[in-house]
Amino acid sequence: MGSKTNDRIPGFQTPTRMADPTRLVVLISGTGTTLHNLIQCIARGELPARIVGVIASRSGIGGIARAEEAGIPVAIVPPGQKLSEQIFATVERFQGELVVLAGWLHLLTIPEPWLGRVVNIHPSLLPAFGGRGMYGLRVHQAVLHYGAKVSGCTVHFADNQYDSGPIILQAVVPVEDDDTPESLAARVFAQECEIYPRAIRLWCENRLRIEGRRVRILPANPSAQG
Ligand code: GRF
Repeated sequence: MGSKTNDRIPGFQTPTRMADPTRLVVLISGTGTTLHNLIQCIARGELPARIVGVIASRSGIGGIARAEEAGIPVAIVPPGQKLSEQIFATVERFQGELVVLAGWLHLLTIPEPWLGRVVNIHPSLLPAFGGRGMYGLRVHQAVLHYGAKVSGCTVHFADNQYDSGPIILQAVVPVEDDDTPESLAARVFAQECEIYPRAIRLWCENRLRIEGRRVRILPANPSAQG
């Protein structure tokens, strides 16, 4: 299944950042909880990055207000023909270096130069409970319905399919007997708030090497630490 991903996409790059702080463009389709977490991490000095733009798939969603409160410019790019071309043209207008999918619901065709420069977070332990139609509470409902004893979240590089690119970090949470989709979602989201900024930080520090489907995490360079 997934092991063929990079055969289909020969141009997957090992990423490198150019700017300091790294210029992020965040894509949202919903309430922007993940965007909010990233804004807070940057404000606390935990992430050497700057969100230079937010792209929303429609007007009126909660995430837009969160971006505007933080003074981040917002572009609205609704799904339609040539969605990917429009998205990456907008990213380039923002002079973004890394595209961060944060509750973005639309499949993108990623141009070859951007492979390794688009990351996603999914609220399950991929490859379980991912793919088309698996988002939000549906994921946690499926985990409970299946009877899994653990769940979690996955940060991965995006490729041209839903939830399928090389995995950067995962975190595991227990599934409790009395869990509802909402209580499980809250436990998973607490871990999302930890591992997404951590994975983005690794990208910013040029510490990720994509080797086939595997992502190797390089040790910190002591001379690069402040
Ligand atoms: C995140 O929790 C992540 O699991 C998924 O979308 C959620 C954020 O959505 N990719 P939203 O921005 O709060 O709508």
